Amino acid sequence: MVDRTKLAAVVAAAAVGAAAVAAALVFLAIWLRRKRGSVAAGRTRSLESSTATLRAGNGNGSVDSSVSVSVSESGADWAHNPLPAGKRVAFWGWRGADHHAPLSVSGIPKYHYKDLQKATNNFTMILGQGSFGPVYKAVMATGEVVAVKALASDSSQGEREFQTEVILLSRLHHRNLVNLVGYCVEKGQHILIYEFMSNGNLASLLYGDNKRSLTWQERLQIAHDVSHGIEYLHEGAVPPVIHRDLKSANILLDHSMRAKVADFGLSKEEVFDGSKSGLKGTYGYMDPDYITTNKFTKKSDVYSFGIILFELITAINPQQGLMEYIDLAAIGGEGKVDWDEILDKNLLEGSIAEEVRVLADVAYRCINRSPKKRPWISEVSQAISRLRQRQMTLQRSETRTVLRRIEHQHVELSDLAGMRDITPVGA
Ligand SMILES: Nc1ncnc2c1ncn2[C@@H]1O[C@H](COP(=O)(O)OP(=O)(O)O)[C@@H](O)[C@H]1O
Ligand SMILES: [Mg+2]
Repeated sequence: MVDRTKLAAVVAAAAVGAAAVAAALVFLAIWLRRKRGSVAAGRTRSLESSTATLRAGNGNGSVDSSVSVSVSESGADWAHNPLPAGKRVAFWGWRGADHHAPLSVSGIPKYHYKDLQKATNNFTMILGQGSFGPVYKAVMATGEVVAVKALASDSSQGEREFQTEVILLSRLHHRNLVNLVGYCVEKGQHILIYEFMSNGNLASLLYGDNKRSLTWQERLQIAHDVSHGIEYLHEGAVPPVIHRDLKSANILLDHSMRAKVADFGLSKEEVFDGSKSGLKGTYGYMDPDYITTNKFTKKSDVYSFGIILFELITAINPQQGLMEYIDLAAIGGEGKVDWDEILDKNLLEGSIAEEVRVLADVAYRCINRSPKKRPWISEVSQAISRLRQRQMTLQRSETRTVLRRIEHQHVELSDLAGMRDITPVGA
């Protein structure tokens, strides 16, 4: 009897123990599940927040709302109905289970290769050729025109540049930076899609296939636009971005000749410890100090912009002796700078000549051999703004003078007509 009671007690204790272990296991399982969920959510959050870091702009910062390219049918809802957190993963080369879902951690719409093939007429409408690969014109199903940059498939440098452009351009938004409106990673292809800039690049307008004589107002507007684009990169973006390949072939013009900075393949967020990387950039635009020290800074971008300013006022290609001409003009006659020798002859007429010389002085300060002596980009853009202001005031006063002259002539004509109407006495 005693034994039976003992046995029952042992069995009951064992059952309670087993129940306690089972309960503990259930709790453990629930805890693990929750923990995994919160890690995933945290990861998603950090990816999302990383796309927003550079949005803090200066007063000039704005998303260019003039261009909106809709996503291929499959992706039309992407902007409004983002995928559930679990579906957001790194996008390089990833294809989700749902082939119709455009995935993008960058928030930039993802396109299907076949849609781009159709839009570009099987990649036949070439707009330009860069180091990255050809750029094609594309007409999307919606009728919108875009530019499509296809990476040469065998280029690992190109692939790095592709990633840099998507990551940077998804964060940088300014009216003077070319807008990235989509991308495609499919079938081993890496493709970038931009807003279409119908007037092409500045180099070809100044001395290339598209050459035409630009007015002083147009050149000043271009200088102003570009300086604002760079000012946003250097002083508006957080952290600041150094472009590293500023040149006239990377300045694009839209239908109304407004300029935007393009091609961010070599760009980098500013590294304050001045860490070094291989020598990159374009001959004719590279800061000599960078060539000797291998340290690229904001002042190296200012140097390249100085060269672009000289291109605007001389229409001479930096790869065809521009620097030699500048050096000669800087020595000038009687120890004085003489820019008139190298300025575009169309700019030496009338009241604008003085302004052109002022811009040449600004450009010359930008290309000072000592980076410390170069101005910051905000100082350059202020100087250009003052020139534009002066130009506009001058234009207004010229218009007033012309109007006054017309008015005067009108009065004289009316007087004459009045005299004719007077019938001579005795006639
Ligand atoms: N958005 C665009 N609209 C019109 N033409 C463009 C556009 N993007 C590039 N291009 C043309 O293609 C050329 C090369 O483009 P770019 O972005 O500089 O490529 P890469 O990185 O290969 O140098 C430009 O100089 C320009 O003529
Ligand atoms: Mg380029």
